[in-house]
Amino acid sequence: MNDKKIIIEINDLHKSYSSGHVPLEVLKRLTLSIHHGEIVAIVGESGCGKSTLLNLLGGLDDPDSGKIVVNGHDIVQMSEDALSVFRNRFVGYVFQFHYLLPDFSAVENVMLPFLAHRFKKKEAREKAMFLLSRVGLEKRADHRPNQLSGGEQQRVAIARALINDPSIVFADEPTGNLDERNSKEIQELMWELRDQYELTILLVTHNLRMAKVADRTVKLAYGRIDTIENSQLKG
Ligand SMILES: Nc1ncnc2c1ncn2[C@@H]1O[C@H](COP(=O)(O)OP(=O)(O)O)[C@@H](O)[C@H]1O
Ligand SMILES: [Mg+2]
Repeated sequence: MNDKKIIIEINDLHKSYSSGHVPLEVLKRLTLSIHHGEIVAIVGESGCGKSTLLNLLGGLDDPDSGKIVVNGHDIVQMSEDALSVFRNRFVGYVFQFHYLLPDFSAVENVMLPFLAHRFKKKEAREKAMFLLSRVGLEKRADHRPNQLSGGEQQRVAIARALINDPSIVFADEPTGNLDERNSKEIQELMWELRDQYELTILLVTHNLRMAKVADRTVKLAYGRIDTIENSQLKG
């Protein structure tokens, strides 16, 4: 097994939704450890709980029971203040839809999470410009999201996810809206950024090629882990 440090430890996690007549059990007794620096792909049929799992791990939603220990801290027990620091400083999020603010330029969108807790506009802009050039978009910094292609919008979203130097990036179908060529570019970019910034990346994907190059693939089915495949074993 991998002897690297464990950065996320999930223990006996349960999650149900109670919006209907009967509670819908989405995750059942989920237990899983993620190592520092790993890229883990989460796959499974639509509705099997992938986004639910990612949202729980990212502190965006609460489980019914179970433990989620991230970097030694149980985020389920965290105060709302501590959790907000965790969400802003320790993790980055990338979603299928970029959620860039339409009235702000690319560089302003990247700056915003930085400005949310540090009022240093010049530093924020410099850092955002650096990240935009890192994702190959330095010339598009002043463009609004609707002046960018889908692949470019997603690159801006990735730069935004990195502005506060997160340790972990959660990506929910980051290439779900992109064609194969753009998907491949985004995948390669994420893998390079993992190496450069020593990120741990959890990504939900339907893209088989992307799942295949992940260090591990965790397949969910009916709220449980169906299989875990290591990269060495992938054909
Ligand atoms: N806020 C919610 N309220 C009620 N049911 C939900 C909610 N979010 C998701 N679900 C249901 O939980 C199940 C898992 O959803 P989700 O985690 O989004 O699946 P996936 O990302 O694997 O497609 C689905 O049946 C979905 O309809
Ligand atoms: Mg989903």
